[in-house]
Amino acid sequence: MKKILVTGGTGFIGSHTTVELQQKGYEVFIVDDLSNSSESVVDNIAKITGIKPHFGKVDVSDKKQLFDFLAQNPGIESVIHFAASKAVGESVQLPLKYYRNNLNGVINVLEAMKEFKIKNLVFSSSCTVYGQPEHLPVTENSPIQPALSPYGNTKQINEEIIRDFVKVNPDVHCIALRYFNPIGAHPSSLIGELPLGVPANLIPFITQTAAGIRECLSVFGDDYDTPDGTAIRDYIDIIDLANAHIAAINRMEQGRQKAGLEFFNIGTGNGLSVLQLIKTFEEATGVKLNYKIVGRREGDIEKVWADTTYANQELGWKAVVPLKETLLNAWNWQKKIKN
Ligand code: UD1
Repeated sequence: MKKILVTGGTGFIGSHTTVELQQKGYEVFIVDDLSNSSESVVDNIAKITGIKPHFGKVDVSDKKQLFDFLAQNPGIESVIHFAASKAVGESVQLPLKYYRNNLNGVINVLEAMKEFKIKNLVFSSSCTVYGQPEHLPVTENSPIQPALSPYGNTKQINEEIIRDFVKVNPDVHCIALRYFNPIGAHPSSLIGELPLGVPANLIPFITQTAAGIRECLSVFGDDYDTPDGTAIRDYIDIIDLANAHIAAINRMEQGRQKAGLEFFNIGTGNGLSVLQLIKTFEEATGVKLNYKIVGRREGDIEKVWADTTYANQELGWKAVVPLKETLLNAWNWQKKIKN
């Protein structure tokens, strides 16, 4: 059985990816500092797959903790690096936290790969590196634009660190996946997104409003240059996203890479406005949402969606889950955690 390290494996994307990895026969080793998740996720993964992943409470931004874990768990061949701080707004308030966690994290993972002879890395990047693209849909060759937040900046710097590292370490291979907007939950309702406090992202805010936890959803701006005036994003199902990681690992294992570091857009290829998303949520769940239009949110871009041609062709991967199903899964998860 192939052994794989998943950093941040109890988080939203990490937990769903662990499930898919286990179901495809990988032996998964999770490290997570539990700063934004709970160890109970490990048991819930086991309920879904019948296999408990190995778990270590490890802060990857602390090199010793990571190295100790790997010394105790030999034979790991690949790593998927999710562990990072990810709240855009918080990153503006606490920039050093973001630079410390996200930059040390990636440096330690790369050093560990060298030390423990781990060959393959999948890195969690973000469409945020494109800023507001001039041409849509956005391809992997679109120019990288100055980041609008320290969080976004750490993703750009991480990509550069990895690029410089693989140049002089040809034994290490990396695929950076630039995610668009990940949403949804596992159909079993055993794992999903667990935002702390008031959610900053749209879907958890929608489901909490539908559940009566929040009174009213604020739609940030209806004066954008889009058909209904609200901002457009590319919302990708969490299981589809998880499977993109398996496609990336397979590509590296089979030696199909064309460069030491490759980039792929991971989205659906469809742009959806905030109002369209609200309407689809209402249709999928039968729940009426209380919402109001307010001013724009600072730092938001107007519209972005992915050109996924390259990922479809080269990774042999495609987003397949229908949006209504994704929204229903998110809603079922919300109802479950409310109780
Ligand atoms: C942001 C980041 C992205 C990061 C993601 C997850 C940028 C440009 N994007 O995505 O890199 O991976 O967060 O943390 O930094 N909205 C409302 N009302 C709400 C919440 C959101 O109208 O209460 C709107 C937003 O204005 C936006 C859309 O919904 O148009 C999606 O927002 P959100 O879910 O926060 O994700 P992004 O900002 O697109």
